[in-house]
Amino acid sequence: MSFSTDPVVRVSQASIFQDSQTVLSDINFELEKGELAFIVGRTGSGKSSLLKTLYADLPLRLGEIAIAGYHLPTIKTREIPLLRRKLGIIFQDFQLFDDRTVSENLFL
Ligand SMILES: Nc1ncnc2c1ncn2[C@@H]1O[C@H](COP(=O)(O)OP(=O)(O)OP(=O)(O)O)[C@@H](O)[C@H]1O
Ligand SMILES: [Mg+2]
Repeated sequence: MSFSTDPVVRVSQASIFQDSQTVLSDINFELEKGELAFIVGRTGSGKSSLLKTLYADLPLRLGEIAIAGYHLPTIKTREIPLLRRKLGIIFQDFQLFDDRTVSENLFL
């Protein structure tokens, strides 16, 4: 269960892996509602891997992440679309729908 005072994202002692490679280890941070944060780092440092983990595209193998009321280590496959409905993601390669305007794409 989540409460309105909970942070939107809470990451504790999480490690991110791509195959057998450890991309990031022992990550700890919280994001509160309304907070603005930036992830910076050189190419290949693991920014996209972290975001993929947050939207449950890359399974969390070590540590704890709670995001938008979901607990990632135990999230069920059928809950993943519900989590993603609570997140807004604009990809590097955009992945926009051609049959909609830019603002319709952003709204979606
Ligand atoms: N699908 C994948 N399979 C295996 N390894 C991957 C995969 N995606 C990324 N990696 C590796 O994981 C590491 C982190 O890559 P990631 O894409 O998360 O970095 P990034 O910080 O987003 O880089 P960029 O600034 O170029 O977008 C790199 O060593 C990369 O080669
Ligand atoms: Mg990236």
